[in-house]
Amino acid sequence: MKRLIIAIDGPAGAGKSTVAKLTAQKLNYNYIDTGAMYRAVAWQTLQQGVEPSNQAIAELAQNLDLKLDYRNGKTNITVAGQDITEAIRTPEVSRLVPKIAQVAEVREVMLKLQQDMAGLGGVVMDGRDIGTHVLPQADIKIFLTASIAERAKRRWQELVAKGYTIQLSELEAEIAYRDKEDCERELAPLLAAPDAIHIDTTELSIEATVKKIIDLCKEKL
Ligand code: C5P
Repeated sequence: MKRLIIAIDGPAGAGKSTVAKLTAQKLNYNYIDTGAMYRAVAWQTLQQGVEPSNQAIAELAQNLDLKLDYRNGKTNITVAGQDITEAIRTPEVSRLVPKIAQVAEVREVMLKLQQDMAGLGGVVMDGRDIGTHVLPQADIKIFLTASIAERAKRRWQELVAKGYTIQLSELEAEIAYRDKEDCERELAPLLAAPDAIHIDTTELSIEATVKKIIDLCKEKL
């Protein structure tokens, strides 16, 4: 049976990773979380206390010993052998990552790794520029959105469950800031591909969203 390439793009908190992970598990495909790769560079920048100049960040990304284990329908990520899958989810990393993602050399390194990992298919990849730049040949392109209020609420619930003390208003501001940075940047901005199918998840459950995507896949198989 044909193994599809599925690209899922959209802004922070739209439900991409949850939906992409479940879709991959249902189809027995690989799930590749590209946001985690940019987060890994931001995490390492913070760890090393690197002055976040473009040149320093570019060098750091080019020399980063980054490994992704993307089998079993989830993405685990290590840097120099250290598992940072959870450590890259902190508010500090979230604040820094949009700046990191604007550095051309960082995007070059990631683009190559992402295209290699997509291989011959059987993959669900989520991010900001997957349908437009990384995998323009994808069989299915989804653009997932939700209102800012709903996206901030979801992130807040996630972080509170992990023990963080953070105000909802702070997250609304952070998400609005990341939307602006990701949409307005020069290189591979957050944009729906012309052939992407838009799904607004503000009032749609995760299960219903996954079902919609699986139904679209069935049409292509
Ligand atoms: O998906 P997530 O919210 O973890 O992504 C973190 C950040 O990484 C985004 O806000 C964006 O700046 C960057 N990113 C990107 N291109 C991708 C995936 C993520 O620029 N394909």
